[in-house]
Amino acid sequence: CIASHYTFTIKETPYTKLCSTKKILTVNDQFPGPILKVHKSDTIYVKVRNRASENITMHWHGVEQPRNPWSDGPQYITQCPIRPGSDFVYKVIFSIEDATVWWHAHSSWTRATVHGLIFVYPVPPKSLPFPKPDHEVPLILGEWWKADVREVVEEFLTSGGPPNVSDALTINGHPGFLYPCSKSDTYELAVEKGKTYRIRMVNAVMNVILFFAIANHNLTIVASDGHYTKPLNVTYITISPGETLDVLLHAHKNPKRIYHMAARAYSSNPNIEFDNTTTIGNLRYISSSKANTSSLSESYPNLPYYNDTSAAFRFFTKIRSLYSGQVPVKISRRILTTVSINLLMCPDNSCGGPNGSILRASMNNISFVTPSHVDILKAYYYHIKGVYGTRFPTFPPLIFNFTAEDQPLFLLTPRLATEVKVFKFGEVVEIVIQGTSLVGGGLDHPMHLHGFSFYVVGIGFGNYNISENPSSKYNLKNPPYKNTATVPRNGWIAIRFIADNPGVWFMHCHLDRHQSWGMNVVFIVKNGKGPNQQILPPPRDLPPCY
Ligand code: C2O
Ligand code: CU
Repeated sequence: CIASHYTFTIKETPYTKLCSTKKILTVNDQFPGPILKVHKSDTIYVKVRNRASENITMHWHGVEQPRNPWSDGPQYITQCPIRPGSDFVYKVIFSIEDATVWWHAHSSWTRATVHGLIFVYPVPPKSLPFPKPDHEVPLILGEWWKADVREVVEEFLTSGGPPNVSDALTINGHPGFLYPCSKSDTYELAVEKGKTYRIRMVNAVMNVILFFAIANHNLTIVASDGHYTKPLNVTYITISPGETLDVLLHAHKNPKRIYHMAARAYSSNPNIEFDNTTTIGNLRYISSSKANTSSLSESYPNLPYYNDTSAAFRFFTKIRSLYSGQVPVKISRRILTTVSINLLMCPDNSCGGPNGSILRASMNNISFVTPSHVDILKAYYYHIKGVYGTRFPTFPPLIFNFTAEDQPLFLLTPRLATEVKVFKFGEVVEIVIQGTSLVGGGLDHPMHLHGFSFYVVGIGFGNYNISENPSSKYNLKNPPYKNTATVPRNGWIAIRFIADNPGVWFMHCHLDRHQSWGMNVVFIVKNGKGPNQQILPPPRDLPPCY
């Protein structure tokens, strides 16, 4: 049903997975959390009641929230946390979003279990740009730690090393029968032959990009990150943390079989520890579900090999916007950024990173430090000094061979600082994000921008070579319109957007370990002079800072 007021009560609720029970943070006792259903351009109010024992904030990922950064959510970026026992009502303003987006907590690693989907529908008489599906299927790719997630975070932050990997990947909370004790904890999708299903999916895991496929069934991508795409037929999907996809599944196969769906990690860098296990679900045709199921033969999907970078990016680069001709062609501001992993030395080399170091991450060699008492939005709005600086560089400290083995050593140790980049209202921005091989040979980075969707006009492997004018190869006609885009290992992406949403907006790697290490930047977009070009006034119940 479609409502405009919701209540999210954050609680600790016991769940049993993989033979052990623990309490996890939930919304209304649900894991994964409730689905929100809205029409395009609706405004909804979500009252978040924190009845847990840790701080929380909530983010509406992929929702632009025009002029309303107050409800965007990232902790100490746009708000102070909702403390245990307190409430805050988020005003979520939908504007240009057409398809599936999602919500998740945005404080520490609470999003590991506090997340859910948002189904956006067209406003009648407008209809979908593809045949109306018979059914809708929510599909959340997630994960499960046997340990308390708070302990996982604490441990990795204090050790300085990489975090532990989770114990299982999950589909709608179910690990699937390949994991111990999980035979009966396997996601099952029952379909009717001849019907079409719209799968609304998200990658909600913390630290890995995933491949996903369903045996013997092609899938048709019709939207990505809440925006319609040209229908694209695929045999597998690559999906990065933060991304959403709308996928049509046509049930037209022999109903006397079980077709498994599966997801597992993709990693371009085999040296990095990641979850190399597989979560499995069952696709079953309804007519056969009454039959003796043990006699049904089974089909397994073919997923690309875990480090098949060309398979991963073949998927990403085939996505096209449904509509063409809307990309800003003339830009007024260009920023070249590098994204790197860094090493800091620690006393007697006793820390948990490589060679006893502390791992950090950076953009343009600044490792972002999140404020700890006042959020940046409040500091900006009320002119509170000393919370952030405005000197985020628009160029890396050195233009060099970013992907070379030997990197200038000073780049290993970034400056730890809270630097933002300020845009005038209406600037047409291009940001190039270049991956480097500084530590460990590099990795893919799914970069997410709050407050905007952007066009991914260019993507490439190797160096972004300014003198070669890579922009001559951009797609300015129908590039994907997204909020999360993956920078290939030792490659680059170029994105464009118009800075017409006044406020304070976070940009960060959606691999949470990289975000925790500082692969972040904050953009401030100033108010415009015209009507409706100013930040909305702050809500009265904004959580206090102290
Ligand atoms: Cu989905 Cu800043 O996050
Ligand atoms: Cu990253």
